[in-house]
Amino acid sequence: MDRRTFLKSATVSAATISATSQALAAVEGGQPPIAISSANGLRATDKAMTLLRDGADTLDAVVAGVNIVEEDPDDMSVGYGGLPNEDGIVQLDSSVMHGPTRGAGSVAALEQIVNPSKVAKLVMERTDHVLLVGEGALRFAVAMGFEKQDLLTDRAREVWMRWKRNLSERDDWIDPSDRLPGGEESAALDIPFTYGTINCNAVDANGDISGVTTTSGLSFKIPGRVGDSPIIGAGLYVDNNVGACGSTGRGEANLKTCASFLAVEFMRDGASPEEAGLKALKRIAENTTEPYLLDDDGRPNFDVKFYAVNKKGQFAGVAMWSGAQYAAHDGKENRLRDCAYLYKRA
Ligand code: GLY
Repeated sequence: MDRRTFLKSATVSAATISATSQALAAVEGGQPPIAISSANGLRATDKAMTLLRDGADTLDAVVAGVNIVEEDPDDMSVGYGGLPNEDGIVQLDSSVMHGPTRGAGSVAALEQIVNPSKVAKLVMERTDHVLLVGEGALRFAVAMGFEKQDLLTDRAREVWMRWKRNLSERDDWIDPSDRLPGGEESAALDIPFTYGTINCNAVDANGDISGVTTTSGLSFKIPGRVGDSPIIGAGLYVDNNVGACGSTGRGEANLKTCASFLAVEFMRDGASPEEAGLKALKRIAENTTEPYLLDDDGRPNFDVKFYAVNKKGQFAGVAMWSGAQYAAHDGKENRLRDCAYLYKRA
């Protein structure tokens, strides 16, 4: 598709946004405290709500929430058990923002530390910096008393080895299943590939707002690759006067648009969380021009999701493509809900 055709299709899509939005736009929430997260964060929103009800600070609440997922070896997109980079090393990214103090902290390409979100919070609290990366971030974490640990679980190592073995038919790696009669296991080649992440945002009864995003990033990434999660304005943005937004999905798309910041600015201008998130997704779609990232209709062939909450406690999850869910605790119930979306899957 040439760019002209793509722009035409993007315009058509823009027209469908408001229809989609209206169809799904029963405004959720509106009575803080509220905790909202990506779909892998039901335990995070539950924990955050428990702490908020006990009067905890909003940032303490959301960080304690995502710590559960960072420590879970079965979540292969975050913390311990996350899928490694192409060298088999788990490198983690995280950011936090604390609305009441306008504080921000983040770490990128951090190795050997299970809870990068806690380190990001200490960058905010204990340094005059916002972002520490790589070796410096690790040294800071160790100085702050964190234990170094191998984050690569046996399961993640096996997935990485499977990925390596299947990179090329012209290397010397042999898949054990190639030696099995019938090649049954080769047929069931199952290599998880993820941009998965957890974002969690909360607003308390006073209208104070905080957020956190934490991830092992793109699986099998080039060592040193940093996604959107630790970049303030991309993977997370909080303005205590307005609301919060964080993201999961293809970080490269979000890095080019600072779309969490953008969504908060749309909310500042009066958009609901759902409208703001959909407009931010539209901005990403408009800025996606690489042919290999577009489907036959000129739409992004990847997903990005936003989780937005405003100061009144209204909230929404939005996704580029239909079928996605997010987690939210609205003070009454903690459950998965359907994301509004920009494009409907066939
Ligand atoms: N959104 C997570 C990443 O791209 O690393």
